[in-house]
Amino acid sequence: MTKTLKFGIIGGGLMGREFASAAARWCHLLESDLRPELIAVCDTNPAIHTWYTGNFPTVAKTTADYRELLAMPEIDAVYCAVPHNLHAEIYTAVIRAGKHLMGEKPFGIDKAANDQITQAIRENPDVIVRCSSEFPFYPAVQAIGKMIDEHRFGRIIEVETGFLHSSDLDPNKPINWKRMIEFNGEYGCMGDLGIHACHIPFRAGWYPKNVRAILRKLVTERPDGKGGKVPCKTWDNATLFCEAADPAAPDDIFPLTVKTFRIAPGEKDTWTVRILGTETSAFFSTKNPRRLEVLEYGGGAKQNWEQIDMGYDTAFKTITGGIFEFGFPDAILQMWASFLYEIEHGEPKNRFAGCVTPDEAAASHRLFTAALESQKTGQTVSLT
Ligand SMILES: NC(=O)c1ccc[n+]([C@@H]2O[C@H](COP(=O)([O-])OP(=O)(O)OC[C@H]3O[C@@H](n4cnc5c(N)ncnc54)[C@H](O)[C@@H]3O)[C@@H](O)[C@H]2O)c1
Repeated sequence: MTKTLKFGIIGGGLMGREFASAAARWCHLLESDLRPELIAVCDTNPAIHTWYTGNFPTVAKTTADYRELLAMPEIDAVYCAVPHNLHAEIYTAVIRAGKHLMGEKPFGIDKAANDQITQAIRENPDVIVRCSSEFPFYPAVQAIGKMIDEHRFGRIIEVETGFLHSSDLDPNKPINWKRMIEFNGEYGCMGDLGIHACHIPFRAGWYPKNVRAILRKLVTERPDGKGGKVPCKTWDNATLFCEAADPAAPDDIFPLTVKTFRIAPGEKDTWTVRILGTETSAFFSTKNPRRLEVLEYGGGAKQNWEQIDMGYDTAFKTITGGIFEFGFPDAILQMWASFLYEIEHGEPKNRFAGCVTPDEAAASHRLFTAALESQKTGQTVSLT
C-alpha cells in the first residue's frame, strides 16, 4: 500500500507548478511506496492560488503568509521555490517547524544566508533537507554516474561542466527579479545556474581546491517594463577554472571548469558534462537529450566517439517504454521520486540518483564566494 506524504508549497510560480504537475502524475512511477499529496499553497500573489485550487482538489488551504502554512500540523514536507533573498528566512522557518524541505537553489542568497540554513539543519537532524537539481536524472547522466562508480575513466584528464542559456542575449528583454542583485544576489548567474553545474563533480567527490574566476557583465542596463531603463548589476556569465582531484588519487590534480552563462548565443537551456579520462571519456548535453557519447581508448591511434541512444532508462522505473524520449518534466519527476525515496529509505537509490545535499550546497557557496573574490583580485583563490 502506497503511503502519502502531505506537502505544502511556498512560492507557487514557475517551479512550484512544475512540482505540482509532477505530483499529479505520480502514477507514472511504477515502484514508489511514498506519494506526495499537495494540500496547501502559499504565494504572496493571490492570482496564483486559483491555478492550484482549480487543478488540485486536495489543496484545502491557500495563503499569502508562509507562517500559516507551517502552522498546519498535517503538513509533512514543504517545497520552497521563492526568490533568493527569502531563502534563509523561509528555509530556516520550515526546518524549525519540523517539516522535510526541498529548497530551491542557490540555497541562500549568499554564504551568510547559507550558513543560517546549515545551522537550522544542525539543530534539527531528523528533518530531511535537500536542494533541487534535476539534470543528473537524464538517463545519459545516470549512465555517466555508473561509469564514475565503476572507475571506468582511468586517470581523469579534464572535467568540464556547464549550464548555458541565451535567455539574456536580447538587451531589450525587460528586467525581472532574477537580474536584480537585491533579489538574486551578488552571485548573479552562478547563483541561478551554478548548483546545477556543480552537482555531478561534487557528487563524484571532485571538489575544487581553488578557483580563478572570470565573470562578465555584458548587459549593464535593461528596460524596466514601464518605458524606462534601469541598471542590470548581476553577473551574466561566469567561467570558473579550478583544480580538483579524485578522492581515490588525491595527488593527481586535474582541471575542472564550471561555466554558467546567461548569455551564450545558440544555447537555449544547455546543461553539459564532459569527462576526459585516459581509459574512457564521456560527454552529455541536453541539446541532444537522448545521446550519450563515449570514447573507450584501447591503445594505438584509434579513437572513436560512440553515440548511444539512451531512451528512457531511468533510475526510478516508469510506465514509459525504454525506447522513448526523456525530457525536462521527466527529470523533475525523477528528482521528486528521489527526494521521497530518500525520506523513505534514508539514502539515495544510487549515488547519482540523489538530490543535492546541504553539504554540497554549502560547498557551492564556498566556490561562488571564492569566485567573486577571484574576480575582484584577479588572483587564484584557495578553497582548502
Ligand atoms: N531547479 C530548476 O531548474 C529551477 C528553475 C528555475 C528557478 N529555480 C529556482 O526556483 C526558485 C523560484 O524561481 P521561479 O522561477 O519559480 O520564480 P517565480 O518568480 O516564477 O516564482 C516565485 C514565486 O514566489 C512568490 N513569492 C515571492 N515572495 C513570496 C513570499 N514571501 N511568500 C510566498 N511566496 C512568495 C512569487 O509571487 C512567485 O509566484 C528560485 O530559487 C530559483 O533559483 C529552479
